[in-house]
Amino acid sequence: FIPPASGGAGGGITAKDELGNDVSLSKFLENRNQGDRTLVQGLKGDPTYIVVESKEAIADYGINAICTHLGCVVPWNVAENKFKCPCHGSQYDATGKVVRGPAPLSLALAHANVNEDKIVLTPWTETDFRTGENPWWA
Ligand code: FES
Repeated sequence: FIPPASGGAGGGITAKDELGNDVSLSKFLENRNQGDRTLVQGLKGDPTYIVVESKEAIADYGINAICTHLGCVVPWNVAENKFKCPCHGSQYDATGKVVRGPAPLSLALAHANVNEDKIVLTPWTETDFRTGENPWWA
């Protein structure tokens, strides 16, 4: 569970919906199920998946949807529990870790927090928890 944060961290932005409006966490969670991955506009306007952990909470990381091969937006495949790129077949697991090429790298991460019911994304500069390596995107 992510408690409401006090104040935005440096470099953070409020996630936007397709109309450019701030994404409210309570509204966002109303029609979602555990395990959903839903696109918002994130850092630099990049399409970014918010991970629904339960009816009350999102994961503390968002997943950048841009394929690390040639930049297609990668859809979430619920049935297979992975992201599958329609362009050349790269696959990523549920956390965005690459599991099949030609994509050379995992999907980028962002921190996801909640501030006054708004979903806030901030740059992820720490170790990539999926690989234990430095983030290639930072
Ligand atoms: Fe995704 Fe090529 S752009 S596999």
